[in-house]
Amino acid sequence: RMYRRQMMCRRDIDDFNVPFLAIYGSLIPPEEEKLKQKQLVAILEKLVSKEWPASKLYLYGSCANSFGVSKSDIDVCLAIEEADMEKSKIIMKLADILQSDNLQNVQALTRARVPIVKLMDPVTGISCDICINNLLAVVNTKLLRDYAHIDPRLRQLAFIIKHWAKSRRVNETYHGTLSSYAYVLMCIHFLQMRRPAILPCLQEMETTYSVTVDDVHCAYFDQVEKLCDFGRHNKESIAQLVRGFFHYWAYCHDYANTVISVRTGSIISKREKDWTRRIGNDRHLICIEDPFEISHDLGRVVDKHSIKVLREEFERAAEVMQNDPNPCIKLFEPY
Ligand code: GTP
Ligand code: MG
Repeated sequence: RMYRRQMMCRRDIDDFNVPFLAIYGSLIPPEEEKLKQKQLVAILEKLVSKEWPASKLYLYGSCANSFGVSKSDIDVCLAIEEADMEKSKIIMKLADILQSDNLQNVQALTRARVPIVKLMDPVTGISCDICINNLLAVVNTKLLRDYAHIDPRLRQLAFIIKHWAKSRRVNETYHGTLSSYAYVLMCIHFLQMRRPAILPCLQEMETTYSVTVDDVHCAYFDQVEKLCDFGRHNKESIAQLVRGFFHYWAYCHDYANTVISVRTGSIISKREKDWTRRIGNDRHLICIEDPFEISHDLGRVVDKHSIKVLREEFERAAEVMQNDPNPCIKLFEPY
C-alpha cells in the first residue's frame, strides 16, 4: 500500500527534466545583455587607457565564467603596474577618472576587504564593480568557464543550485553562508566524482595553459574542445543530478574529516591540510579548497550557526527532491 501511495503522488524523477531545463533557460542572459556588457567595458577601457596606457581591463566572476544569470552586475579587474602607488590611491584616482564622464553613482570603496570602485552606466543600466590587480580571480574565472564547455550538464546544474541558494538565502557570505563561486566549485567537484565521471580533473592533466600570479602557479589542460564527449558514458539527467547533489551534501559528505578538492578531482582529508581546528576566524566547518590558492578554504565564512542553517537547507532540498510532487516549485520557495 505504501508503494502504491508513493506511485500515485510522485512521478518518476525524469519527469522533472523538462521543468528544470525551463527554469535554466529562463535564467540565461539574452545575447543583447552580453552585448551591452561589452559596450560598457569598451567605454571603461577607453577612459582608463587615457590615464594608464599600459593597463588592461578583464571581466571576471559570473559575467565571464558562464555561470551568470540574467541582470547580474559585472565584475571588472583593472590590471595595472603602479608599483609605487597604494591600492586605495589607485581606487581614488580611478573613481576620479570615471566620475568626470557621464557614468552615475561612482563610489570609491577604499576600505573594503577588496577595495573597489562601484558605478552604474545609465545608458545600459548595468552596474559594475572594478577591483585592482585581482588576477587570480581572472584565472579562476577562466578555469570555471573551461569546465563549463566540457559538458552542458555543469552549467544547468550550477544555474539551478545558484538559483536555489539565492531563493533560500544561503548565498550570503556576510551572513556566513557560501559564495556563488563556492557553489560552482561544489558542482564541478560533484560531476568529477560521478561514476562514470561527467567531468575530468583539468589540473591533473597535461599542462597546456600556465601562468604565475601573486606567486601562485596556475596550470591545467585548457584545450577543452577536445573533451566535449568526456561525459558520454554517464547518462544521468539533470533532475537526477540535482537530486544527487543535494543527497550528497545532506547525507553523504563527511563534514568532520574531509575537504572537497577540484584541483585533485577527489576528496582529501582535513588532516593533510591542517584544517582540523579553528585558526583565527577560519573554522573549517565545511571545507572547499580553492583550486589555485590551496591554503584558501571557501567555507571559511561558515560559522557555528550558519553551518546548521546550511545543512538544514541541504536536507530540506534532498527531501523535496526525493518526495515532493512538485520539486521544481518547492525547491525555490522563498525562505
Ligand atoms: P554572482 O555574482 O552571484 O552571480 O556570482 P559570481 O560568480 O560573480 O561570484 P562571486 O560574486 O561569489 O565571486 C566573484 C569572483 O571572485 C569569483 O568568480 C572568483 O573568480 C573570485 N573569487 C576568488 N576568491 C574568492 C573568494 O574567496 N570568495 C569569492 N566570493 N569570490 C572569490
Ligand atoms: Mg559577481
